[in-house]
Amino acid sequence: MADFFKAAEASELDEGELLPVEVDGELVCLAKVAGTVYAFTDNCTHISGPLNEGELDGYVLTCPWHGAQFDVRTGKALRGPARQDVLTYPVKVEDDAIYIQLPEA
Ligand code: FES
Repeated sequence: MADFFKAAEASELDEGELLPVEVDGELVCLAKVAGTVYAFTDNCTHISGPLNEGELDGYVLTCPWHGAQFDVRTGKALRGPARQDVLTYPVKVEDDAIYIQLPEA
């Protein structure tokens, strides 16, 4: 069973916002939509654009570099030039903190 790591205080992430965090050496982007927190890798699958600098519109995140779009709930690539989905991480919010589960090394 992979471990959950603390990623941020819940108060650091506002509704409709993105937050870059580093968790156990991984660059992770957090997003909050409709009160739910989502976590995914901060590297666009095209050529590693910083997704935390992208634009979030509902559940759709647009990469700041070349406009690829992803669904933050599933990581699914919705629009090119990215063809691969981004990796998502399980999230839990407990005691006013956000935790994410990283895959086994
Ligand atoms: S790096 Fe994200 S679309 Fe090119």
